[in-house]
Order: sequence, then structure tokens, then C-alpha cells
Amino acid sequence: MKADLLITGISQLVTAQGTGPKHGAQMRDLNITEHAALAIANGLIAWVGPSSEFAGEAADTIDIQHRAVVPGLIDPHTHAVWAGNRLADFEARTSGVTYEQILTAGGGIWSTIRATAAQSESELTALAKPRIDALLRSGATVIEVKSGYGFAPAAEIAMLRVISVLAAATPAHIIPTLLIHVPPKDASERGEYVSEICENLIPHVAREELAQAVDVFVEKEAWSAPEAEQILTAARQNSLAVKLHTEQFHRVGGIELGLRLNALSIDHLEACAPEQLAAIASSPTIATILPGVTLHLGLPAAPGRALIDAGVAVAVGTDLNPGSSPLFSAQMALALAIRLNGLTAHEALVAGTVNAATALGLTDAGRIETGQPADFLILDSSDWRDLVYTLGANPVREIWIKGEKVAV
Ligand code: NIG
Ligand code: FE
Repeated sequence: MKADLLITGISQLVTAQGTGPKHGAQMRDLNITEHAALAIANGLIAWVGPSSEFAGEAADTIDIQHRAVVPGLIDPHTHAVWAGNRLADFEARTSGVTYEQILTAGGGIWSTIRATAAQSESELTALAKPRIDALLRSGATVIEVKSGYGFAPAAEIAMLRVISVLAAATPAHIIPTLLIHVPPKDASERGEYVSEICENLIPHVAREELAQAVDVFVEKEAWSAPEAEQILTAARQNSLAVKLHTEQFHRVGGIELGLRLNALSIDHLEACAPEQLAAIASSPTIATILPGVTLHLGLPAAPGRALIDAGVAVAVGTDLNPGSSPLFSAQMALALAIRLNGLTAHEALVAGTVNAATALGLTDAGRIETGQPADFLILDSSDWRDLVYTLGANPVREIWIKGEKVAV
């Protein structure tokens, strides 16, 4: 084997193997190789194993001096494109007003929709790019980005165009999702809006390949499960994958709907009840938990420990957004999932790599294995656990994507 580059001096090379919730997931432990080397050819991993066993040739060698290497992280849930801010909401919440009260009063998500509508696509791109850079610096080599602050169909399309411009402007792999976030405030307009989304917006987005999945916010103050079913059925008919924001505050049927529609993921789950766990565990759907929301809104955490104990494949995302989770670090999301959701360090790494890949329908991301893209992180430590231990400093020293060191 002739490699372009051999990386030696890896104290620990850590990865989960395989994909899919039931093969790549929580049931299996991580694979940790000490004194490892990693060979790269054509942007792919050509060989990986103990240094002493490397028998090929390499055009170049880099010794990383006893540092740990982990797969590039995958952030499977962000709303990184927005304008304005939610600092007034933040302040109001500190004096006792709730997130849901602010939303019902026409603020919250609605205020971000108004601020986003007032900006051009290039202004939105300029606002979002530093957020993508921050996520990338924190170790996210794959980042899902949702629309959802457009509301008007044309504005949702504009948001998806911004996301595709961002994708071309960053070395990170960007996965776009169409989010149908909140219904019209006038109840009599909901049916017509849903028809417009199903008959025009979703087919347009599918035709133009502007998104890979459709997400719906199923909640008392947002969409009902029957409305979400109409929207997500249209997504399926147009060959788009489906995802749901559900059980964030109330149990409103979103989990059951997601499982019935074979959703890639059901996200949030703070209000998920013990009797719902077994059905999730016997489905291929990933449970994506978002500890930044727990920290920022001060609400109960999603039952990460109970989900995993029930056999559910759990992923972790930042949910980066201005209202419920101003968290700009995929590394920190994993660190928080340990503290707030009861994951172990091993489970957190699985949640932020292979399970997050499955939550996005990806089979070529999240693990360091021969034939996979050479997307990995070199840590500032010889012990990989510093990745999920550290709070408030960045333990990620170098980010490599497709075999190249990224400058961010
Ligand atoms: O994932 N809960 C719904 N949507 C977002 C928050 C959006 C916002 O508050 O701007 C979430 O938490
Ligand atoms: Fe979200």
C-alpha cells in the first residue's frame, strides 16, 4: 500500500465501528488502539492500526507526539442561520417568563422570523459563517443546518439557498434540512399553509435538491401530530427523509408519529415518558438529545441514561439557535450530555459520531476505518477522554477533513 501521508505518534486512536443504530451504537463499546498510526490516500483512510504493524509506504510522515485521535464529530441538529438576537427573551426568562409564554405572545421564534426576513441572503450568509466556523473549530466536520426562520415558503427557500452557499464556503460537510417550524398565528390559515407546504414548497425543495430531509416542530404551541403527518407524508412522497422536533415540552404524539414514518431521528425528548422507550428501541430511529437546551432554558433534561438503558441509539446535537440553545460547540454538547443526560464518556463519543451520522442518513462519516473519509481530530491531550471532560476550553488541536488539515 502506498499512502500520501502517514500519521504516527497517536497515543490513542478511538473510534466506533460500523453504522446503523443497532450495529454502530450504544450496545457496542469503542475501539481504542494505543500507539497507533493512520495512513491516508486520496483523502480516505488507507490503513489504521498499531504503528509497529504498518508495512506500507508513505510519501510523507507526520509524528503527532503522543496525542489522541478521534473521528470528526457530527452535529446532527443546528439552526445556524438566523438574524437578530434573543437577548430580551433571555432577560425576561431570568425574571420568570417561560419560553412557551414568549412564543405564544408572538415573540421567541416569531421575533427571529421577523429579524431574519429583514436581511438579504448575503447578510444571512455573513451572519451564519462565523457560527459554522465555531462549530468546526469545536470538532464538527459534519454539520446539519435547518431552515425554519423563513415561515413564508419563499423565505424558507432563501434560507436553504443560504445554507448551500455556506456549504460551498466551508470545508465542513453541511447537511441541509427544511424545517417547518411554526404554524400561522391565525388558526383559520393553518390548513391552507399546510397545503402550500405539501403541494408546492416540498416538491420544489426536492426537485432543486435544496434539502435532504424535512423536519417539523410538533408541540402544543406549534404543529399537531396530524398536521405534522400531512407535511412529513408529503416529504416521504418526494423522497426526502423525515425528522421531528418532539416531546420538548409536552407529549403530543410526535414520537409515535416519527416511529410510524420511519423518521431518521426524533429530537429533543425532554418530556418523553418511560413507557415510550421500548417502541423507540425497537425502531431504526435515532433519539437526538440536545443538552444545550437543558442548560439554557433550565428545563428537565431528556432521559439519556434511560433511553440508552432501554436500548435506544442516542445522538447528541448542539441545537445551535438563538432562543433555546446558544451553544457553539459540538465538543461541549458531548461534555454536557455526560453531566446533564447521564451518558458515559464512551456513549457520548458514540452519540457524537456514528449515531449522529445515522441520524443524518450518512454511512460515510463518524468513524476511523479503512475506506472511510479521512475526517478526524487531533486532540491537545494523550487521553481521548479530555474531549468530553473539558468545559470551556477547546481540547481540539487540529481538524482534518478528507485527509487535509483545516485552517479555521
Ligand atoms: O430546537 N423548539 C423549537 N425549535 C428550536 C428553537 C428555536 C428558537 O427558539 O428559535 C429548538 O429548540
Ligand atoms: Fe432545534
